Amino acid sequence: MGKDEPMQDRLSSWLRARAPALLAGSALMLSACATPPAAPLYQRLGGEAQIRAFMGRTLDRVAADPRGGRSFDGINMQTLKVNVGNHVCQVADGPCDYDGENMRNAHAQSDIGGAEFDMMVRILREEMTLAGVPPEARNELLRRLAPARRDIVVR
Ligand code: HEM
Repeated sequence: MGKDEPMQDRLSSWLRARAPALLAGSALMLSACATPPAAPLYQRLGGEAQIRAFMGRTLDRVAADPRGGRSFDGINMQTLKVNVGNHVCQVADGPCDYDGENMRNAHAQSDIGGAEFDMMVRILREEMTLAGVPPEARNELLRRLAPARRDIVVR
């Protein structure tokens, strides 16, 4: 490279010579900044057993609450907990199979009101918080369950 070489040519040969190092450097910076892929939701909720535990406590509290317990008269809570656990675990991409009715049919006899649904969501959020589920996982599960409101609530 002579000293009479135009500035532009000198710059481009400098860049050519260092291109591999520059590229490797930026790739390294990008990979350091990239967030790792999120774990599946059921894992972020604490795993299958934890999902069953906080859903079970939620159902017990809703069933014991005079504002919601009415809908649970005559219901086998043990079976209900297993099936709701399967459903929620599946909604959270967990390794569970819910083979029951869809949400509309499952609640068709229960005459559930909007206030009852909202109460259950509040209690579920509390139970997840008590179980140490991080906020973004709590919100993600509630976001996934929210569309069922229109199938469950009839008044
Ligand atoms: C996102 C919210 C909800 C989800 C994901 C959910 C999930 C389920 C599932 C999967 C079943 C079927 C269980 C089975 O086949 O044994 C079920 C049934 C039932 N759910 Fe829910 N539920 C929700 C909200 C509610 C609310 C708000 C209430 C009342 C306050 C409620 C009361 C019941 C009752 C009483 C049954 C049993 C119905 C029967 O066997 O006739 N659910 N629920």
